[in-house]
Amino acid sequence: MQTLTITTPDDWHLHFRDNEMLAETVPATARCFQRAIVMPNLVPPVVNADMAIAYKQRIEAARPQGSDFTPLMTLFLTNQTTAQDIVDAKQAGVTACKLYPAGATTNSDAAVKGIEALYPVFEAMQAEGLLLLIHGEVTEHHIDIFDREKVFIDKHLSLIVNAFPKLKVVFEHITTADAAAFVKEASDFVGATITPQHLLLNRNDLLVGGVRPHNYCLPVLKRNTHQQALRDVVATGHKRFFLGTDSAPHAKHKKENACGCAGCYSAWSAIELYAEVFEQLGAIDKLEGFASHNGADFYGLPRNTTTITLEKNQWQVPEQVTLADGTDMVPFYAGQPLQWKLKSAFNPR
Ligand code: DOR
Ligand code: ZN
Repeated sequence: MQTLTITTPDDWHLHFRDNEMLAETVPATARCFQRAIVMPNLVPPVVNADMAIAYKQRIEAARPQGSDFTPLMTLFLTNQTTAQDIVDAKQAGVTACKLYPAGATTNSDAAVKGIEALYPVFEAMQAEGLLLLIHGEVTEHHIDIFDREKVFIDKHLSLIVNAFPKLKVVFEHITTADAAAFVKEASDFVGATITPQHLLLNRNDLLVGGVRPHNYCLPVLKRNTHQQALRDVVATGHKRFFLGTDSAPHAKHKKENACGCAGCYSAWSAIELYAEVFEQLGAIDKLEGFASHNGADFYGLPRNTTTITLEKNQWQVPEQVTLADGTDMVPFYAGQPLQWKLKSAFNPR
């Protein structure tokens, strides 16, 4: 059987949630990822170093026995965040801060109104070497949801990267040709994560033949020309684009709802979903750079020293997973076939 061995990957954008949910989400990610950037949009959000340290400990306590999976912590920026918060965060080992425009997505009501007010905080992050991770969508009511990423680039992102040329900025879960072009043309201080759903799907997969709530996430899936632009950029192996699943669990009944939650739970099949993309693109040789090298290099962290092995062996993503408390969740790509399957993880080189 055909196999593929790559450096152990990392997930540079992930939602673990908290408390009982960690018993589900942490093993799912620790299955094949060595590290993950943990998003801070809890209720209440993770807004300071003490909260980040406590959350990190709860995640570590949920690791499967023997796992040395490392969560990389982030702070949720608000209009109350101060430069001192950034100094303290750096001291406590926090890796990055997440900028959500207020109301952009799940649990982001406490987030930032008036991004320019945060420039002193960005200044402190640049000085301390904390990365700025951005949910790049405007939230003004009159802006069409399919245009929100492009407008964010023009109104905010281009200004931020110009004002802080030595601040490392990750444009998270990009969805458009505009975003891909912006990152390509930007300096080496600007990178981007791309989710499996934005590489595998487009808005037809959300809306044709009935609304498909399990394909609903934010930023929302875009038209196929945008999907193609994302596929093209990863197929070239560009070094500033890297793996970030945005795996975001929600209960089945909250997604299959008159007002369904945004988020795709992809953790249990994450590396296989990306392998599917690169297989479709005839670029499986580019999977390792995207999944295991580019993110670490961008963050200035060492690459992992172990490997994982995938085998080409078609399997099906399960239709449902059930949590210990009986909550059902529908994983992303449920019931669909994938060509590659994780065979073994964390092999010594
Ligand atoms: O679809 C999404 N779900 N997008 C986000 O930005 C947040 C995430 C969540 O936390 O559920
Ligand atoms: Zn996210």
